[in-house]
Amino acid sequence: MTYDIAELNEKYRIHNTLTFVSEPDTLPAIYIANDAATAKISLHGAQILSYTPRYHKDILWVSKKSYFADGKPIRGGIPICCPWFGAHPSDSKLPLHGFARLFSWNVIDTKAIDGDTTRITFELCDNSNTKQLWPYDFCFTFTAIIGKELHAALTIQNRNNEPVTITAALHSYFNISDITKIAIHGLENVTYTDSLTGEKSKENSPIIINKEIDRVYHDFSGDCMIDDSVLYRTIKISKEGSNSTVVWNPWIAKSERMPDFGNDEYKTMICVETTNALDDAVTIKPFESHTLATCIELKL
Ligand code: BG6
Repeated sequence: MTYDIAELNEKYRIHNTLTFVSEPDTLPAIYIANDAATAKISLHGAQILSYTPRYHKDILWVSKKSYFADGKPIRGGIPICCPWFGAHPSDSKLPLHGFARLFSWNVIDTKAIDGDTTRITFELCDNSNTKQLWPYDFCFTFTAIIGKELHAALTIQNRNNEPVTITAALHSYFNISDITKIAIHGLENVTYTDSLTGEKSKENSPIIINKEIDRVYHDFSGDCMIDDSVLYRTIKISKEGSNSTVVWNPWIAKSERMPDFGNDEYKTMICVETTNALDDAVTIKPFESHTLATCIELKL
């Protein structure tokens, strides 16, 4: 999709704070800089690619080998996976993780709430392209609030006369010093399905990663903390409208199989995803909506 960057700036630019930029090597993006943080959001997928609280390293991670192309997902930041998470439940030819991350979204509002806080709202509603992949009438709204914390909220509005069931994720990729030097707290004693084996299990200690991990934690609406002993920081992830969390790191062999992922990049990323996955699928009544939201912040 082509954007009229001048028109977007005319309509939505916030002087000294928020600008639309057309970049040759990536897709059109929004740059935000306020007193608390900087951020970059791609219009493709309404995908937050960078969130850097003042005086810190970026909290989000993006692969150096990511595609930046219409119809392909960007590898990193916070891809919005919707209206299904993972493989489509009945048609494996449909795109993994739904289509929200494959299309351009429209900006419908920008606002400087105060010097520290900037809000951007995007929308993606049913159209002839989405109808080929999912037969429903819908409107997805995504709101990002950039400030001392990062708030990201996806609202799925069912515009049909029948209930619609969705699965979804705010598939957050976090920037870490070294995968062997972090611990994830919060998921102790929570039952998970291991997507690599299909088996259910739980652990009573924080997660330490030394091999491929791909798990869906069930019945979990609490907070996770990624404790990074090298960067001396903890990333806190809290959430709403989510009763499952996915933890994913591809490790060596899977990294090598993914064309848009560097062979060594598994060392500096971890996904802790705010999801509605597996038995946490949500059925939305006619003309009602569901919101999946996360708040990401640094604890020093
Ligand atoms: C995770 C899944 O959420 O996303 C993994 O649990 C998957 O199984 C990963 O490999 C990346 O998916 P994709 O489609 O972005 O390569």
